[in-house]
Amino acid sequence: MSKVKTTFVCRVCGGTSPKWQGQCPQCGDWNTLEESVVENKAATGRFQSLAADGAIKNLSEVNAEEVPRIPTQMEELDRVLGGGLVPGGVVLIGGDPGIGKSTLLLQALAKLSETQAVLYVSGEESAQQIALRARRLGVPTAKVRLYPEISLEKILLALTAEIPKVVVIDSIQTMFTEALTSAPGSVAQVRECSSQLTRFAKRHGTSVLLVGHVTKDGAIAGPRVLEHIVDAVLYFEGDTHSSFRLIRAIKNRFGAVNELGVFAMTDKGLREVSNPSAMFLSQHAEPVAGSCVMVTQEGTRPMLVEVQALVDDAHSPQVKRLAVGVEQNRLALLLAVLHRHAGIVAFDQDVFINAVGGVRISEPAADLAMLLAIVSSLKNKPLPAKMVVFGEVGLAGEVRPVQRGQERLKEAAKLGFTHAIVPKANRPRQPIDGMTVISVERLDEAVAAAF
Ligand code: TYD
Ligand code: MG
Repeated sequence: MSKVKTTFVCRVCGGTSPKWQGQCPQCGDWNTLEESVVENKAATGRFQSLAADGAIKNLSEVNAEEVPRIPTQMEELDRVLGGGLVPGGVVLIGGDPGIGKSTLLLQALAKLSETQAVLYVSGEESAQQIALRARRLGVPTAKVRLYPEISLEKILLALTAEIPKVVVIDSIQTMFTEALTSAPGSVAQVRECSSQLTRFAKRHGTSVLLVGHVTKDGAIAGPRVLEHIVDAVLYFEGDTHSSFRLIRAIKNRFGAVNELGVFAMTDKGLREVSNPSAMFLSQHAEPVAGSCVMVTQEGTRPMLVEVQALVDDAHSPQVKRLAVGVEQNRLALLLAVLHRHAGIVAFDQDVFINAVGGVRISEPAADLAMLLAIVSSLKNKPLPAKMVVFGEVGLAGEVRPVQRGQERLKEAAKLGFTHAIVPKANRPRQPIDGMTVISVERLDEAVAAAF
């Protein structure tokens, strides 16, 4: 028997190297080479364009009619997709195991099946398991076509026979094509299967939803090129200890990114949360030190999030800096700004920061809230009750304006907040009912105003 030849493939760029190296010779990334089987059978017709073929013409001659979208009728999912699925569009949904990807897609497909031809291809669960789940979810199943299969060739045959409008592939890492000898889930297999499915989608106007596993460090397993092949990449995230699940667009060729869909996991599956603005606040009977409420803006919707800080004497020379839900590096930077521009030192303190409810805040508008929560914990003095804060803090100690300041303030006022500390440029032109706004230009002014 001939020995199977292997090569090393980069997980990021898909480049190859005959032997293992710490650094990918093509893209220069470290620790990304993985062993995979050398393909000796060159599949024909593998390298075709993903989009339909065409001739050269003027852009103005191209028929640019808006194609009608297919709403999934789950408003939160539609919001992230930019208004619904696009015929011929390929969406990749990534997330930790057990977060609810299969549940969400089964619910969406069941709703869609009332108006569209749909197919659920599962390589992870048996037909019986899926039927049991559907029964538990209480969704209509009469028109949901189901195909437990992992061979891409068989799936493509079934797709060509049925031509469904919407297909779910759960998950892309379990699928394999016979054209390649490497195992399902390997870089080559994932790339090849998704290209073939994408080609099918474009040719037949079928909308394809691919489920993708994530690796330990949170990226979708398989080559990064996968994210370039598909039209939209959504991430399903949330704290496994809380019932809230957030779905976020990382890339979207048909809509805005950074739109956020919010769900709650219940015993009857995922329930949409259409008004999430008060979801990430914890209830304190009395104001507590180290807590600061900020207004974050995710896409078109403002949300109130409580940022908590705990600052405590360090008992070892190696101080701890831990951030959950906000960026760790940002924390180190803000502590330096706090020292330099507000004269508050924390170099001998352990600092822990947490955004309540498992939410992840990526915008710099959280800076001021993080700093005020830290100062509050350090001084062991609560911030005034019913106060919200937002603003980006620069390295020079200046408080910079953020987008959509007015909307953030209005949302806070709606939820009963009465005071706000905001950047000077975000000061409302007309007073907001029931809201006293303090506008600041520098970090030390904000600290003085808060305490
Ligand atoms: P699942 O959709 O299988 O996750 P994924 O496909 O992302 O791996 O979700 C499984 C989890 O969801 C499981 O831990 C139980 C929970 N769950 C509920 O709480 N309620 C429900 O109605 C269902 C179907 C699942
Ligand atoms: Mg699953």
